[in-house]
Amino acid sequence: MNTKSILLKSRPQGMPTEENFESREERLPPLEEGQVLLKALYISVDPYMRGRMSEGESYVAPYNLNEPIAGGVVAEVVESRHERYSKGAVVLGNLPWQTYSISNGKGLSQLDPHLAPLSYHLGILGMPGLTAYCGLLYIGQPKEGETVVVSGAAGAVGTVVGQIAKLKGCRVVGIAGSDEKIDYLLNDLGFDEGINYKTTQNMREAIAAACPNGVDIYFDNVGGEISDAVYARLNKFARIAICGQIAHYNATSRPTGPRVEPILLTKSALMKGFIVGDYAAHFGEAAQELAAWVKAGKLQYEEHVVEGFDNLPQAFFGLFKGENTGKLFVKVAEYGQ
Ligand SMILES: NC(=O)c1ccc[n+]([C@@H]2O[C@H](COP(=O)([O-])OP(=O)(O)OC[C@H]3O[C@@H](n4cnc5c(N)ncnc54)[C@H](OP(=O)(O)O)[C@@H]3O)[C@@H](O)[C@H]2O)c1
Repeated sequence: MNTKSILLKSRPQGMPTEENFESREERLPPLEEGQVLLKALYISVDPYMRGRMSEGESYVAPYNLNEPIAGGVVAEVVESRHERYSKGAVVLGNLPWQTYSISNGKGLSQLDPHLAPLSYHLGILGMPGLTAYCGLLYIGQPKEGETVVVSGAAGAVGTVVGQIAKLKGCRVVGIAGSDEKIDYLLNDLGFDEGINYKTTQNMREAIAAACPNGVDIYFDNVGGEISDAVYARLNKFARIAICGQIAHYNATSRPTGPRVEPILLTKSALMKGFIVGDYAAHFGEAAQELAAWVKAGKLQYEEHVVEGFDNLPQAFFGLFKGENTGKLFVKVAEYGQ
């Protein structure tokens, strides 16, 4: 069996380009006892992967040069010598960017194709959904009537955060990068207000106008000047969940902004960074509740699908250009074909 891989050829400086990646084709060895042959169906592209492309310490190890990028993949078992996975099973795993790969089964979880569309396990029923749920509910602790601001609001995590906040009876303000995204937040997802940060001249004034009662919870996917503007409107006892800082992921030096500590002090506010894995003990309950909300039609869900394995690098770049509304992933193959 031949497989195609996409490797990290060099470490990006600033915004990644095609030059940083290389495609390779090779022959896979025959399966050994205890192994499965997996065919990639859906491959996730996620902002955190940018951090792994750089050298240096983070919460996950950097990718090695000349090895395939790896991340969330939904795959079909097309051959098995593993007692737990039979041919035709569908699994989710942290797998290489390869059309076919061999696994010993470690870290794979089997998916039920009848529960929801399989690709949902990369988004609302997977890591981004769990991130939204845990960050908002455990750090944000939303209460009815409170105002929640979410940056990166039209993306995989942000769309779920805003909708859960609505389910909890909050006023929800989303910040995103196009008028189409703002329309989607307001008209499809039921957000109360939306701010297009790319066309708004004065973000502080826009946030003040959208949050007449101040900001009780800020769910931050972005960082930078958007956050500086939100901090100016925090209420007493506000909670800030630092989920992502995508505005900085391609920065070649660390920017400094206004000092936030005096605001945290005078507002008795809580700011907490988190990695979704910190809440692993709650994943069972979170996944169940997310699935129930999706099934009941209480959470809407959008996918931005890029077709074709070769387009993985371009799809990944799209995250930094704001091309996606909802969860961005690459469709490589159809289940069962
Ligand atoms: N802590 C965790 O465990 C955890 C887990 C998952 C994700 N995250 C973080 O959560 C954030 C969202 O992740 P996601 O998977 O849901 O991605 P996403 O929001 O679906 O996609 C990224 C979005 O970020 C926006 N963006 C890109 N560059 C920007 C910039 N310079 N300034 C402002 N906005 C920018 C773009 O939308 P616009 O059109 O609005 O610019 C883009 O669509 C990321 O920062 C990610 O690293 C953290």
